[in-house]
Amino acid sequence: MFKVLPFLTQYTSLISENDKLPPILIDVQDTSKLNFFTTKDINLLNSQRFIIKDNAFNHLVDCDSIINDSIPFFEKESKTSKMGEGELKWQNAHIRGDKVWWINSNTITPHSLGLLVDAMKQIQTELNQATNLNSEKSESHFTCYPGKGSGYIRHLDATTKSHSNRKITCLFYLNKNWKKGDGGELLIYNETNQPIKVEPISNRLLIFQSGSVEHQVLPTNVDRFAYTLWLC
Ligand code: OGA
Ligand code: NI
Repeated sequence: MFKVLPFLTQYTSLISENDKLPPILIDVQDTSKLNFFTTKDINLLNSQRFIIKDNAFNHLVDCDSIINDSIPFFEKESKTSKMGEGELKWQNAHIRGDKVWWINSNTITPHSLGLLVDAMKQIQTELNQATNLNSEKSESHFTCYPGKGSGYIRHLDATTKSHSNRKITCLFYLNKNWKKGDGGELLIYNETNQPIKVEPISNRLLIFQSGSVEHQVLPTNVDRFAYTLWLC
């Protein structure tokens, strides 16, 4: 008998052999230009390939206002998320279930979201000034996984086959009332250990190497909001 398997057992991974890019090594060249980051952060981003900064922009942004103010724009502008690039874009809600609002313009409405976008842009400026990262471009989106078990199976944000040249993924979570049982945690796969579970709580900034850190969004039972910036 034909049987529809539940989410995440039907598909387990989007990654095939040889997709992974070699880890990048970020070299701090001018410590006086480090402000938000410490040398230790950069060393960790090299050695474990991810870092978590909690309470990242507490004094600058208000996560509830961002969500509330952004929802009307999000409803108008967001699209069903896609995988792949260019002509080869494809979509499957069992593999990836969020809706995304691509943020391309320099003047962001609402204002509360604009403050976050500016704070995130500073990451690129600081890393470019203090290190050899040399990130010339970026991509960003505001995203919502709308509950109902939506998630994103294990994948990489950049592969040997992609053209976007993403180097670093910066994820900022906005979910103030997130609690255990809501789901939507991010699993980070570290080669030797058990996957690391990251709860998508508000004001948590997660930064990882796009081409070498496999990750997965576990099914979420509630709306789950994040803002993502890729440094390319
Ligand atoms: C992505 C992604 C993770 C998250 O958009 O590529 O993996 O925690 N997002 O939202
Ligand atoms: Ni991803």
